[in-house]
Amino acid sequence: MRKVRVVVLAGDGIGPEVIEQATRAVDTVAPEAGLDITWQPELMGGCSIDAHGTALTDAVLDTCRSADAVLLGAVGGPKWDTTDPNAPRPEEGLLGLRAGLELFANLRPVKPLEALYDASPLRRERITGTDLLVVRELTGGIYFGKRGRTGDTAFDTCTYSRDEIARLAEVGFRAAAGRRGRVTSVDKANVLESSRLWREVVMEVATGFPEVTLNHMLVDNAAMQLCSRPAEFDVIITENMFGDILSDEAAMISGSIGLLPSASLGAGSNGLYEPVHGSAPDIAGRGWANPMATVLSAAMMLRHSLDAADAADRLEAAVERTLADGARGRDLGGEMGSAEIGDRLVAALG
Ligand code: IPM
Ligand code: MG
Repeated sequence: MRKVRVVVLAGDGIGPEVIEQATRAVDTVAPEAGLDITWQPELMGGCSIDAHGTALTDAVLDTCRSADAVLLGAVGGPKWDTTDPNAPRPEEGLLGLRAGLELFANLRPVKPLEALYDASPLRRERITGTDLLVVRELTGGIYFGKRGRTGDTAFDTCTYSRDEIARLAEVGFRAAAGRRGRVTSVDKANVLESSRLWREVVMEVATGFPEVTLNHMLVDNAAMQLCSRPAEFDVIITENMFGDILSDEAAMISGSIGLLPSASLGAGSNGLYEPVHGSAPDIAGRGWANPMATVLSAAMMLRHSLDAADAADRLEAAVERTLADGARGRDLGGEMGSAEIGDRLVAALG
């Protein structure tokens, strides 16, 4: 058996509920994959603010750094919402992890299942065949640029270096080479200087991937195309904030944000895996949350960080089968709670 250590940051709101079912599903497939997983729970987000006054302690960051992978539920909630610039915020924990572990590439796949085509707000014929991957830059741009206030004005700045753009683009091109071979680079090069550098560097990286076709798209147009012809996209590469917005938009194509996983990767094999949905404080504690997005995030973890692609395939197939068999959480208009969906998944893995 191969020993691995995964830090579990269940976080706030529905985080602990979805994490419980995800670790259970992984534990079901781990033995056959030859994995002996130690789950190490730690605090991050609002729960860490309550315990330590900060969303992410240095000790937890170090623990995550030395782990094989990090699995995250969700962070945040009204309890910690504030506009006071000096108050700690749960999201700072997330941003601190991304920066501290240098997780510069965020992968968000969107592939609506046929069983759910009618759950999408888009018509069936529009989404048929959609299988796209958003590769979002995660440690640069306006999220990490210089910011401040002077008198009655406030500012945030978007800065990118060639290296930051190139390493992200490489992740996108490599992914596309293993998929349908198309990269759409999204920017705002008609207005922003950082976008013009983005475009320039992406074109340079593209020369190393002759089998991949590249096209550029302005972000406003990309937002429109995602609704009008989502099936045309293969891999979308984009900077931090455009990726934040476009990935939420793309998420709705699948009908429920409760189904979408994500992986945040750096140069090594360690990574941070989390569902795209948030902490859903309105339903927290009721056992209603759909754990499928977290289970699918755990599958990405098995594939990218734990070298257990077969186990990942099994989890993904179990989610697909369970949905095809009619299991629906409340996010999809059904009645099933977290534990019941977890039961179905474990049964499908049997
Ligand atoms: C996301 C979230 C975060 C982001 C927030 C919570 C800081 O929206 O992961 O997409 O903007 O990156
Ligand atoms: Mg977001």
